[in-house]
Amino acid sequence: MKTKRKYYITTPIYYPSGKWHLGTCYTTVVCDALARFKRMDGFDVFYLTGTDEHGQKIEKVAQSKKIEVKTYLDAQINTLKELWKLLGISYDKFIRTTDDYHQRAVQNIFNKLYEKGDIYKSGYEGWYCTPCESFWTKTQLVDGKCPDCGREVELAKEEAYFFRLSKYQDRLIDLIENNPDFLQPKSRQNEMLNNFLRPGLQDLCVSRTSFQWGIEVPFDKKHVVYVWLDALTNYITALGYMGEDDSLFQKYWPADIHMMGKEIVRFHSIIWPAILMALDVPLPKQIYGHGWLLLGSDKISKSKGNIIDPVELSARYSVDAVRYYLLREVPFGNDGMYSNRAFLSRRNADLTNSLGNLVSRTTAMVNQYFGGILPAPSCPDKTYDPELIAIADTLYETVKGYMDKLLVPEALAEIFRLVNRANKYIDETTPWILAKDAAQKERLGTVLYNLTESIRLAAVMLSPFLIEAPAKILATLGESVPLSFDDTVKFGQLLPGTTIAKADKLFDRIDIEKELAAIEKQMEAAEAKNPKTAEKPITHAKPQITIDDFAKVELKVGKIVSAEKLQKSNKLLKFGVKIGDETRTILSGIAKHYKPEETIGKSVVVVTNLAPAKLCGCVSEGMLLCAEDENGVILLTTEKPVENGSSIS
Ligand code: MSP
Repeated sequence: MKTKRKYYITTPIYYPSGKWHLGTCYTTVVCDALARFKRMDGFDVFYLTGTDEHGQKIEKVAQSKKIEVKTYLDAQINTLKELWKLLGISYDKFIRTTDDYHQRAVQNIFNKLYEKGDIYKSGYEGWYCTPCESFWTKTQLVDGKCPDCGREVELAKEEAYFFRLSKYQDRLIDLIENNPDFLQPKSRQNEMLNNFLRPGLQDLCVSRTSFQWGIEVPFDKKHVVYVWLDALTNYITALGYMGEDDSLFQKYWPADIHMMGKEIVRFHSIIWPAILMALDVPLPKQIYGHGWLLLGSDKISKSKGNIIDPVELSARYSVDAVRYYLLREVPFGNDGMYSNRAFLSRRNADLTNSLGNLVSRTTAMVNQYFGGILPAPSCPDKTYDPELIAIADTLYETVKGYMDKLLVPEALAEIFRLVNRANKYIDETTPWILAKDAAQKERLGTVLYNLTESIRLAAVMLSPFLIEAPAKILATLGESVPLSFDDTVKFGQLLPGTTIAKADKLFDRIDIEKELAAIEKQMEAAEAKNPKTAEKPITHAKPQITIDDFAKVELKVGKIVSAEKLQKSNKLLKFGVKIGDETRTILSGIAKHYKPEETIGKSVVVVTNLAPAKLCGCVSEGMLLCAEDENGVILLTTEKPVENGSSIS
């Protein structure tokens, strides 16, 4: 048996911090089409995706929703996996950075780099952008704001561990300058060289003490590992690197391609190769930074006037229409602009009119004129047949040529060149006129054979890109989606005598103006009902716990003896709470609901065995229980006076 060449392809791991929109699906759908194409092209593919679950941003989102971080994450990850299922994403592995094996491997990696001297301890002061989890120097800020996302930054000071990124500067410059394939498209090379590498790299701060939701630095538990070091290493930990079984790593590494949006190319083409160099691990073969799907001039992030929810779009217009739009309409490597009009026009023009019509006309004619039995191509014609047959016969090679260069829209355009040529062939050969003349029966049969074969080849070649239509088309020809292109991509393989069913409508035709008006109305109604639709809170119930789980929580009655606003925060109050003989400092986010002085003397319910947490520079040694409804937050107190320090059960 032929040994297959391996192909390891990755998406970035996604932040589970928000609502998924069409733009977020872009990388994953593109990688899916590539993975499916390579599988059919005889490669042993490993397609990795997953979620990036640590960091302050996640911690804050969960806190703001008053849900435990892990509970919040589990719900988000389920939603994401459902979305990938809906869109037919054929990943081989889904990694979560909260998976135990990943966390252990990251600690091993941190240890190894520390022992090697590539990670060292020092102090750090810089401007921190919480949404991007990035530190910046003053000169890197743009108008005093984060250069990546344009949001506010805060001055932060920490004792921290550093990765010797500067040590790898020359090797990185050499890598990008002398290996043009390593970073694509080419424009990203100039960007990295001119903006980051040539001006000089500084060592990278790779630990944090300002929050806790991360992987602990193994030998210094006050610190958690910087999320990007944690996240980037997923590409090797998912394969078992520094874990119990590294056979997948041995088999699939180095990655053939890491695909990502352009905003995170810097992390992938500078920091990631430097980490790998430090670990003495071979480098990925290619980093590809694709463009963004834009709405107006912004990266898609809002919903006004447009349906950009992939679930709703798929339900309304089909999963294939969503995949087709993303793969065909966005010039690969560049930005693409989303609009409902462009989406619907693409769907009508290509899927309904060109493909759908070709399939329904052809199969209807085979049924009408030949009782649904495929005739033999016994009467070729030199004028019309050769061009159609040539396009169909070489379609695989042409499409493969484009896919090898990651020219996905061009590959699809090529398949539709065949579809359009076949439609033109119907107009040229006029089968309905041939059908009127008994002497033309063989010619009519040949025309219909050529058309049916063209449909088959188009469907086979569309199989990596669309997930419903190719299977439906092939089913009408008595075929199924092949596992491999081998033996399926040459013209003339469909046997005369095959039963051809009459195809159902593949895609309905949409009245674009009517549909756009309906969308607009729907959006207005949704906005009027809830102006904050995009930020609807997720109300997932927490998982059930046992009485033993509950018994782990120690609750006691405490008396508030002092209260003041915490200087660095407008949310937190700092309380002195007397519990028996002990007075503890406890922070609570109720500054908007209570004046400090009105809380003094209250008997409150305290969680006393909660691990201390540092918030805004102050350590909190417990938690006060509160209840919340739309009127605000109230402290839980005892119904009658009780001795302070009493236990609660
Ligand atoms: N967690 C990091 C990646 C860590 S990889 C070690 C991250 N996650 S993300 O959820 O923000 O982005 C995931 C992918 O979605 C990225 O490739 C990003 O570029 C892509 N997109 C998110 N919005 C997008 C558009 N509007 N258009 C195209 N792709 C975009 O970054």
